[in-house]
Amino acid sequence: MYKLIIHGGKPLHGSVKAAGSKNSSLPILFASILADAPITLNNTPQLSDISTTLRLLMSMGADFILESNSSLFVDSSKLNNLVADYNLVKTMRASILALGPMLTKYGKAKVSLPGGCAIGTRPVNLHLKALKELGASIKVENGYIYAKSDGLVGANIHFDQITVTATENIIMAATLAKDTTTISNAAQEPEISDLCHCLNKMGAKISGINTSNIIVKGVSKLNGVEYSVCSDRIEAATYLVAAAITGGSITVKNTNPKVIHSVLEKLIEIGADIKTGNQSIILNMKDKRPKAVSIKTGAYPNFPTDMQAQFTALSTIADGYSSITENIFENRFMHVPELIRMGANLTLENNTVVCKGVKSLTGAHLMATDLRASASLVLAGLAAKGTTIIDRAYHLDRGYETIEEKLKLLGADIERVQD
Ligand code: EPZ
Repeated sequence: MYKLIIHGGKPLHGSVKAAGSKNSSLPILFASILADAPITLNNTPQLSDISTTLRLLMSMGADFILESNSSLFVDSSKLNNLVADYNLVKTMRASILALGPMLTKYGKAKVSLPGGCAIGTRPVNLHLKALKELGASIKVENGYIYAKSDGLVGANIHFDQITVTATENIIMAATLAKDTTTISNAAQEPEISDLCHCLNKMGAKISGINTSNIIVKGVSKLNGVEYSVCSDRIEAATYLVAAAITGGSITVKNTNPKVIHSVLEKLIEIGADIKTGNQSIILNMKDKRPKAVSIKTGAYPNFPTDMQAQFTALSTIADGYSSITENIFENRFMHVPELIRMGANLTLENNTVVCKGVKSLTGAHLMATDLRASASLVLAGLAAKGTTIIDRAYHLDRGYETIEEKLKLLGADIERVQD
């Protein structure tokens, strides 16, 4: 185990390049199960969730070669073990994305129930309901999902609740199903569009991309592909908040401003000066104190839940009262008590944090609990007076590629030390 030690109070300046998207790489890696030949994935981020996914695919009989730091050659075309084992699934909930591809390609799958995590119970009932509507028979016992089918058949699927990975699971299952599947109230996150573009390049017939009504016409097989994943909009937005909370200025490259429009709107509202190019964003918050804002998270294109913890950190030093409402997950406030230990004035009322901004935070010894909560603590530490120590910092490696190196290049005084 290791921890991060941050000496705060230094404005960040400079430029940083966003890595490939975690939440696009993961479904596309599972989509490799659908292909009759290997895939080559470029612009993949170096994250522990990617390594976990590769280990899981290997446990099912896949092979991979790391061609460079960000290029993966993955052959999942002939699996010999249609089981996603608990010991790997428990470390990464997105492993549920193995279910749809295995079921539609091989007619059966055994996938461990992912279980909950720090931010919520994370049920998968919507995944299973939709797969049943495609003709699968599903049994859940001893902590595993047992799915089988004599060949999935297209159906009209409606999601009562917007769900990202269930939308992805059904799109992937539908690609090799008979006939056509329509999905209404589909999630519209950019990572889903990236998955669809990759699947179409593999020979799938998906239309309605970028909308809440997706149509998938089943095909008999999918080919190998070479594909570059989109950049990570949440990583990019996190660095913008790092500059805003420290009163600095930053250029984030390799980022499409359109996919974080809702975040940029809020950064402008807090008083940041924002300039955008077609693949870059410049934020200038030189020596300004953020203004208080109100945030409500929602499904894309609304304000992303994955940026809620980071904006809660930012609001702790804003001028005035902020309110941050979390509408997606029932327990995504693990960062709140830790921020209070740094001197933040936060009150939790149901799914809303009310924050009375303070002039500055003070460093403290903290514990990370989940990926985005950990990012929130890093941001608070960068802004705080004095030293902040963050234990269990391995949570960060799930979603932020070499975070302390990138922050050091921006002028942060941060180091990673063994526990
Ligand atoms: C995806 O998780 C992302 N993960 C999450 O990012 C992200 O926070 C989330 O979407 C929301 O945008 C990946 O893409 C790998 P959901 P997912 O299904 O698909 C409920 C990060 O930090 N629900 O959209 O698991 C669920 O409990 C991670 O990068 C059911 O009730 O989220 C939640 O309240 C964290 N039943 C809501 O729907 C189901 O079967 C939305 O969840 C499925 C979901």
